[in-house]
Amino acid sequence: MEVLVTGATGRLGRVLVPQLRDAGHGVRQLSRRGAGPGGVRGDLATGRDLGPALAGAEVVVHAASDPRGNPWEVDVAGARRLVEAVDRTRLRHLVHVSIVGVDRVPLSYYRAKYAAEQVLLASGLPLTVVRITQFHDFVDELLDTARRGRLLPVPMGWRARPVDVADAAAHLTGLVDAPPTGGVVEFSGPEELSVADLARSWAAVRAPGAHVLATPVPGRLGSALRDGGALPVRGEHGRRTWAEYLRG
Ligand SMILES: NC(=O)c1ccc[n+]([C@@H]2O[C@H](COP(=O)([O-])OP(=O)(O)OC[C@H]3O[C@@H](n4cnc5c(N)ncnc54)[C@H](OP(=O)(O)O)[C@@H]3O)[C@@H](O)[C@H]2O)c1
Repeated sequence: MEVLVTGATGRLGRVLVPQLRDAGHGVRQLSRRGAGPGGVRGDLATGRDLGPALAGAEVVVHAASDPRGNPWEVDVAGARRLVEAVDRTRLRHLVHVSIVGVDRVPLSYYRAKYAAEQVLLASGLPLTVVRITQFHDFVDELLDTARRGRLLPVPMGWRARPVDVADAAAHLTGLVDAPPTGGVVEFSGPEELSVADLARSWAAVRAPGAHVLATPVPGRLGSALRDGGALPVRGEHGRRTWAEYLRG
């Protein structure tokens, strides 16, 4: 297949592109600078260069996002621009990467991700929306940022099911050849853990001697994540555990 990957320079895209190539696909990777082998330029925030970048693509894996900037422009309006720019005569499958819980967790970024899903689901394109749980290396970074010296404060009672980014990339690679589902599927890691347990095993490896302090988080966000809002309801699971990831 001729595959175009958006977000190819991101955490997921960097792992996905080589896996797609190893599976025998022709891969072009889209980013704002057009970096890397097979790199093409395209900006979802403006629409610039999207048409030429998407020309001839049989499969689009849409993994671009702007969690820290303007997701309403890049993710939501960007999804509209993507729908307009795809080559409808060639496109067999648009695989859109989303997050487990975008429909349940009251975060502004998740609302934008959910709105982007709605744009794509209404587009009439051959589509699969894949909601994935948090990547191990993302959780690793979050815990590192949360640590204050020898203290590691984490939300009490929150539950998660993180996944290895290579497992997520392998799952997406498998979907490239599969028929579009026309709906939403979920993909997660092999085991559910409390965030406090994730943090304790992290501290044992990354910050020995650090003390994990589970702290109650009030409000709707706190209760959504205690009630399992970030956990998949159904779907397939990766194999690599958090403990295996930490061992390296
Ligand atoms: N991180 C997680 O734990 C996690 C978990 C589940 C699902 N997801 C989802 O998986 C996808 C990939 O996440 P990630 O962590 O790999 O993201 P990331 O590391 O933040 O990378 C974001 C990508 O989006 C591209 N991008 C940003 N603004 C753009 C624009 N205006 N036009 C074109 N491209 C733009 C960036 O490319 P340039 O900056 O090079 O242009 C980069 O390649 C996202 O949809 C995310 O919501 C993430």
